[in-house]
Amino acid sequence: MIDANSAARSAPTSDGPGLPANIVDALAYPALAVTASRRIIAANTAARALFDDDLAGKDFVRIMRHPHALECLSRVIRTGDAETISLELQFTTRRTFELTAGRIAAPDEAFFLVTLLDVSAEIDAERSRSTFVANVSHELRSPLTTLAGAVETLQGPAREDPKAQDMFLGLMSAETARMSRLVGDLLSLAKLEAKEHVAPDGAVDIVRVIKSVVNSLAASDTDYPNRVEITAQPGMLPVSGSEDELIEVFQNLIENALKYSTPATPVSVTITQRPAMTPGAGGRAIILIEDQGEGMERKHLSRLTERFYRVDKGRSREMGGTGLGLAITKHILNRHRGRMAIDSTVGEGTRVKVILNIKQAGFD
Ligand SMILES: Nc1ncnc2c1ncn2[C@@H]1O[C@H](COP(=O)(O)OP(=O)(O)OP(=O)(O)O)[C@@H](O)[C@H]1O
Ligand SMILES: [Mg+2]
Repeated sequence: MIDANSAARSAPTSDGPGLPANIVDALAYPALAVTASRRIIAANTAARALFDDDLAGKDFVRIMRHPHALECLSRVIRTGDAETISLELQFTTRRTFELTAGRIAAPDEAFFLVTLLDVSAEIDAERSRSTFVANVSHELRSPLTTLAGAVETLQGPAREDPKAQDMFLGLMSAETARMSRLVGDLLSLAKLEAKEHVAPDGAVDIVRVIKSVVNSLAASDTDYPNRVEITAQPGMLPVSGSEDELIEVFQNLIENALKYSTPATPVSVTITQRPAMTPGAGGRAIILIEDQGEGMERKHLSRLTERFYRVDKGRSREMGGTGLGLAITKHILNRHRGRMAIDSTVGEGTRVKVILNIKQAGFD
């Protein structure tokens, strides 16, 4: 029997730290070596970081109370056949691990290797992929149902009724536009995700971009003209980025401010710049978009950039929204190495701050 207290890491032999410690130290993820009586004889840095700094000599049961893990190790000790099981363990958050236990034949005496691979990120990614597919299907289903209903009505009851035909054709055209906006937004998200690690480095006149966005919004809706007040610090330097993508960012943010507030209230856009804090670092452009609309409760703020997240789903849909605007905005800003912060108070309004990098001279 290996004496746990003298074995491996705690007591290096003249040939080095010993086989169990050599093996666990060669692994990047948490690994422990235990004896047939489940006493820990070696643990690598990752395992000590996960459980406890002082593991050598302890009974495995003291650090791993999960019954499935204990049953698995007992079976492996009894049969010698390696096994992998999936486990949920509670640390600061609940995490999913793949625990693998196997027997290692050693010259003096066999011991057992237990490894724990954290697969939470893969599981989360898989979950968010399937939620995304479910969301897209759901978003497409409702306009499709409306279209199918309208076609049926046009073929049947409204066949001889020009007034009803006009109404249903109008409905069909609105739903088709909604679907094509949704597909367009999904495509732009996919493209942005594919190139997120490449920062666009054109020189963009941010004041001109914001003015043109405000003009095009004013032309798009009768409630929008003359509501946006733009204040720009004189001598604004160009920001680094892609003009088309920054147009998309401010189009969504200013449209949100207009659309989620009443036509009687103004929306203010303030553009300022901040010089570089340290030599060599770049300056920043700060764009504040403030509305006096209905605002949102704090609990929503951290979720607004999730795809399809809307505070009031029905209302956003009625207004033709896809719920992808802020997800696209966040991706574009990530690509620009910029930032966005949203603050809101119910009944008072919403304030969105965007920070972009001033284009550094000499990089053109
Ligand atoms: N200025 C704002 N005031 C109040 N609520 C806002 C504001 N901006 C965003 N929201 C809330 O955040 C949600 C998500 O915004 P986002 O821009 O992603 O989607 P959308 O405006 O609904 O649709 P889309 O931008 O695709 O047309 C909105 O549905 C709305 O509930
Ligand atoms: Mg929007």
